[in-house]
Order: sequence, then structure tokens, then C-alpha cells
Amino acid sequence: MVEVLVTGGAGFIGSNFVRHALSAHPDWRITTLDKLTYAGRLENLKEVLDDPRHQFVRGDITDAAVARSLVARSNLVVHFAAETHVDRSILGAGDFIHTYVFGTFVLLEAAREAPGLRRFIQISTDEVYGTVTTGASRETDELKPRNPHAASKAGADRLAYSYFATYGVPVIITRASNNYGPYQFPEKVIPLFVTNAIDGQAVPLYGDGLNVRDWLHVADHCRALDVVIERGEPGEVYNVGGGNEVANLDLTRRILAALNRSEDLIRPVADRPGHDRRYCLDTTKLGGLGWRPQIDFAAGLGETISWYRQNEWWWRPIKQGDPAFQAYYSRQYEGR
Ligand code: NAD
Ligand code: TYD
Repeated sequence: MVEVLVTGGAGFIGSNFVRHALSAHPDWRITTLDKLTYAGRLENLKEVLDDPRHQFVRGDITDAAVARSLVARSNLVVHFAAETHVDRSILGAGDFIHTYVFGTFVLLEAAREAPGLRRFIQISTDEVYGTVTTGASRETDELKPRNPHAASKAGADRLAYSYFATYGVPVIITRASNNYGPYQFPEKVIPLFVTNAIDGQAVPLYGDGLNVRDWLHVADHCRALDVVIERGEPGEVYNVGGGNEVANLDLTRRILAALNRSEDLIRPVADRPGHDRRYCLDTTKLGGLGWRPQIDFAAGLGETISWYRQNEWWWRPIKQGDPAFQAYYSRQYEGR
């Protein structure tokens, strides 16, 4: 059996990856390590909690004893755990630096001592390149992160590389574009706008709505990680982009149209400070390993919207039953 440690596996991408990996790799035994922050939900893993090849451990990656004991027995680490919302990093960056820079350091120290470790996959992001005026970011481009979340990702991305260069830890770094799909916490733009629109509530669009993101279906991301794990080279960086550049206004219109809602629901609000205008990834390098995204954006968005319509049990308790979510929503949007 291949012993796999997935950090942050109760979050959006991590839980999709755990489900995908248990079904795609019958010879993998997975331990999910997750602190269950506001964004980590055990119900994201409900289908696999009783799977004999899966173990859930509630714990913090910054806890060296926990990290050491779990990494020591692993052949593969896939490190997703992070604070992930740019807007929250603007309200306060401390947790971002602690979890992602210090937490990645703790895991990497544990990885130095792990006898059977074959790969350490560092899940970075396209946001480390900063805003992209023309063309597409390549793996060799300078990193110019422009918000605290992106800067924490860039710090850990390079720290992970340094553990490859200095100590030979078999690190591979992936930089993915914006993901979408089921189980994404409803503070990110697609699930927030879909669930607001289902309820006939306004959707708060930042600035002129012309910022562009490159959307990647989470299932395509999971398949890309398989390719990187199997065929990627330690010390290398791989961009993972969906090839779907869409302006936020266009995205919003598509969501409203799919839900038969009027565009009157669009509420233009003050822009995000330091809002990156555009992200775009050159994925030639990963294409060379045989990966291509398979999910057409229109179809993937439609399926994702349907998932939120059919799974109100999942998001209503967060949006309507959790005072912390409501406090965040008021702080972020009221009077904006
Ligand atoms: P998420 O916020 O849904 O999940 C993060 C998970 O990490 C949660 O389950 C949380 O409980 C856990 N976590 C946080 N701090 C922890 C700690 N100290 N110890 C253990 N667990 C902890 O995030 P996501 O969207 O699934 O993103 C996962 C990773 O992918 C992140 O590293 C993110 O930066 C990266 N990424 C995300 C996107 C995207 O569009 N969502 C794109 C590119 C890269
Ligand atoms: P988000 O989902 O927060 O992801 P990221 O900041 O990692 O790209 O935001 C995606 C885009 O949507 C980004 O350009 C900001 C914009 N946005 C809004 O216009 N309104 C909102 O309420 C949110 C959360 C995001």
C-alpha cells in the first residue's frame, strides 16, 4: 500500500481530492489531517469517513509532534492546508502567515526525517505571480504576489523549493488557477453568488466587474495532481490552469441566467484593495506530461450550480445557521 497524507483534506479541493484518490488508486491508504477551521467541514468527507482505506485526524499542521508522527509513516504528502480567502487576508493576515508559512516549515522539517517519503506535493497558486497584464504566466516567471494571502503562498512555495535544493526533500510545487465545483465554501465568488441568487439576494460584484480569472474544475485539478505525482520531477513547478478566462461580470451574468434571476441582483460594490486584474497560466509544461483539462466550462458551471441547488443541506447551515459566517458577511459587505 502507498501511505498518503493529505493536509487540509476537509476543505474544498482537499475533500474532492481524497474522494477522487480513494476511487482512482485502490493501492492508496489516506490519512487526512485537518484542523477543521471555519472552512474545513467533516461533512465534506461524509462518503469516505467509514472507508477502511481512509483515516481522519483532527489536528494542526503547525503542531510538530502531530506533523512528525504522520509524515514519518508517509510515502506521499499532498499539502493543501491553508487559510485561503484573499478578502479575509486583507482583514487580518496573521493566520495566513502562521498556517501557511510556519505550518509548511513544520511539515517540511518532518519530511526531512521521513524515511519512506517519495513525493511532497506543495499546493501553491497562480496568485503568486501577481496580476498578469498580457500573455500567460510561466513557471519561470518572477513571483510578484500583491495581497497577504498570495504572499503567504509565495513564501511557502519558495520555502518548499529550498527544502528540495538544500536537503533533497522530494518536493514538487503546483500552481493552480481558480477552482470551482462542489463543496466550495460559500464565501468564494461562485458558491456565494449561486447561493445568494437561489435566495433572490443581491450579488456583490467588486469594482467594474472586469477582473479576469481562469476557471479550473476541481476534478480536472485532481487529475492534474495524479499526473504530477506519477510523472512530475522533484524540484519542479507545474502550472495547472483551466484555460477558461472569464471576467467576473460575465461569470455573474451566466450564474444569474442559469438560475432565471434578473441582472438587477447585481450590486456593484467598492473594489477589493489591491485587486489583481487578471490571472492566466501557461500550462505547456504540464501538457508535456500528458494532462489536459477535460471539463468544458459551460457544462462544469451548469453542473456546479445544480449541485448547490440540490445540496442546500450542505450550505444553508453555514450561511444561515453559523453566526461566524453572518459576522464575516456583515463586516465584509455592509456599507460597502
Ligand atoms: P479551503 O479553505 O476550502 O480548505 C482549507 C482546509 O485547510 C480546511 O479544511 C481547513 O480546515 C484546513 N486547515 C487550515 N489551517 C489548518 C491547519 N493549521 N492545520 C490543518 N488544517 C488546516 O481551501 P481550498 O480552496 O480547498 O484550497 C486548498 C489549497 O489549494 C490551498 O492551499 C489553496 O491555497 C490552494 N489553491 C486553491 C485554489 C482555489 O481556487 N480554491 C486555487 C489554487 C490553489
Ligand atoms: P474569489 O472567489 O475570492 O477568489 P480569488 O480572490 O482567489 O480569485 O474571487 C474571485 C473573483 O471574484 C475576484 O476577482 C474577486 C471577485 N469577487 C467579487 O466580485 N465579489 C465577491 O463578493 C467575491 C467574494 C469575489
